[in-house]
Amino acid sequence: MKEEVPATANHPNPYVTPKIMKDLLRLRTSLSETIEQILNDQIKMEAEASAMYLAMSSWCDRNGFDCSAGYFKKQADEEREHMLRLFKYVSDMGGRAVSPGVSNIQIEFDSFRNVFEQALQQEIAVTQSFNRMADKCQKEKDYVTFTFLQWFLTEQIEEEYVARRALELFEVIGEEGTGQYEIDKRVPKIKYEDTYEG
Ligand code: FEO
Repeated sequence: MKEEVPATANHPNPYVTPKIMKDLLRLRTSLSETIEQILNDQIKMEAEASAMYLAMSSWCDRNGFDCSAGYFKKQADEEREHMLRLFKYVSDMGGRAVSPGVSNIQIEFDSFRNVFEQALQQEIAVTQSFNRMADKCQKEKDYVTFTFLQWFLTEQIEEEYVARRALELFEVIGEEGTGQYEIDKRVPKIKYEDTYEG
């Protein structure tokens, strides 16, 4: 058996021909360009969601809704975790994960209720985005990424549920009198249980 020689400019490895090198480089990642791109787009979307929740936290804090400020800060942290989970996956698969630029994040909101309306809209948009990604993965026959996305699709059940329940508090409690104060207190207590037993 021939001894394997490390490849250098002076002693090129006879086993690694230019043709093999080219194939290996192509195999750097099994992610297609399309899938790598949509994953990076989602990394950006999660970063924007995190920044948006932080802006909501700031607005609530400035307007005396301390409990909601804490709730949105926690949501911001969760979105960052989602971003990093996607980021790690792209890197682990040998792809190029792009650190996203986030700008033009809203600062002001029309009202306390409007903050929660926008939060629910954002979660619905994220769910739709993951659905489109899952669809793309199936079309590209990328079942590894499709499987990876299942965690996010399941997570969106909880994310939408909590955002919807929070907004419903405005109908159930009403904003008159001490209503807003009560809503603020109740928001962080919303919990999602995936069984009826809880
Ligand atoms: Fe990362 Fe709330 O979706």
